[in-house]
Amino acid sequence: MALHYMPGFGNDFETESLPGALPQGQNSPQRCAYGLYAEQLSGSPFTAPRGTNERSWLYRIRPSVKHSGRFSPVKREHWKTAPNLDDHELPIGQLRWDPAPMPTEPVNFIDGIRTMTTAGDVHGQIGMAAHIYAFNRDMEDDYFFNADGEMLLLPEKGKLNIFTEMGIIEIEPSEVCVIPRGMMIKVSAPDGEARGYICENYGAKFALPDRGPIGANCLANPRDFKTPVAAFEDKEVPCRLHVKWCGKFYQTTLDHSPLDVIAWHGNYAPYKYDLRTFSPVGAILFDHPDPSIFTVLTAPSGEQGTANVDFVIFPPRWLVAEHSFRPPWYHRNIMSEFMGLVYGQYDAKEEGFVPGGVSLHNMMLPHGPDTKGFNKASTTELKPQRLENTLAFMFETRFPQHLTRFAADAPYLQENYADCWSGLRKRFDGTPEGDWSEEVMK
Ligand code: FE2
Repeated sequence: MALHYMPGFGNDFETESLPGALPQGQNSPQRCAYGLYAEQLSGSPFTAPRGTNERSWLYRIRPSVKHSGRFSPVKREHWKTAPNLDDHELPIGQLRWDPAPMPTEPVNFIDGIRTMTTAGDVHGQIGMAAHIYAFNRDMEDDYFFNADGEMLLLPEKGKLNIFTEMGIIEIEPSEVCVIPRGMMIKVSAPDGEARGYICENYGAKFALPDRGPIGANCLANPRDFKTPVAAFEDKEVPCRLHVKWCGKFYQTTLDHSPLDVIAWHGNYAPYKYDLRTFSPVGAILFDHPDPSIFTVLTAPSGEQGTANVDFVIFPPRWLVAEHSFRPPWYHRNIMSEFMGLVYGQYDAKEEGFVPGGVSLHNMMLPHGPDTKGFNKASTTELKPQRLENTLAFMFETRFPQHLTRFAADAPYLQENYADCWSGLRKRFDGTPEGDWSEEVMK
């Protein structure tokens, strides 16, 4: 089935999957067409300023009160929520993981989520969690909504098909989607299996960063964000609705699908974005700018310029800086950096950081190019170079990221990651040139 989308970021959209289903000129007619129920979904307080006020009107077969029932608590051990101070023995340090293996037993999307880090406090609607997912079974009659935050999904392996209340989104590696807080979904893997990353954002919603002197274009352009047209299921079979609410999980049974929205209008909606349409802006003479130049989406905190979480990418691009060390510099940061790799190789690491893997450089812990990367970048001839075959990303948050016990105990945690800097030698020998001899470069 060909999927259709509407372009724009945060637009006021309208869409109907049956003609005349969407009321015109008002939100709540005495009787809706097709006998539908009108329902408002509020993504911001009613009185939020116009620029951040988000809500949609949904016209559905049954109101959402019919999609709930007697909830029972369910344990979901691997999906953690901040504050989560798991007991584990791992000391602080720079950390890196190999990719999680694909599951061998049947597992669906929500059962295939493993939390790596949590930050902030879900009860105060601040902070985030970073997860990995790996699954091989579709959520046929299982549905889910997350009251704790919006979810940015970033596939590394295999497509994702996300049937949301407001339409169907399909993404592949190099694309992302954002599912708003509270939106019912079911997720399937059109390729049979899928693996990737999730940023669960407890805070203010992702927005496009201001561009400052860059002006009105480049970076992520609003028209490249796509929101699905309305789609629905009219399905009366036993179904389960799973809910995440303040870090706890619940489920209830229904005798129908809750994805029954025939038409909707408004600006609170899911969207996808193709990272290949990101227009990077960077150094065209010398030096390496701060990575904030690669911010795709930013979820603000109450403090200006201090993100609850930024979603940043490092895409293919040209490197042209003269007399400069071109990879990212050595760094200590008040923000905490969770990184992953969708494909290829990241320019600060010559080895060990692989697609599907994760690295964590937490608050004030130093990081930067590995020995090989440093030596190569320090001696290479600085011709214009196109960085090919690379797509890394970062979830960068103002809050320290607490490691889950799962992440600390994962057998694919690399024990020797910090050794990647052990070959960096002392070059200081009292001369202005320093010692760049082969002896210290090996
Ligand atoms: Fe950094």
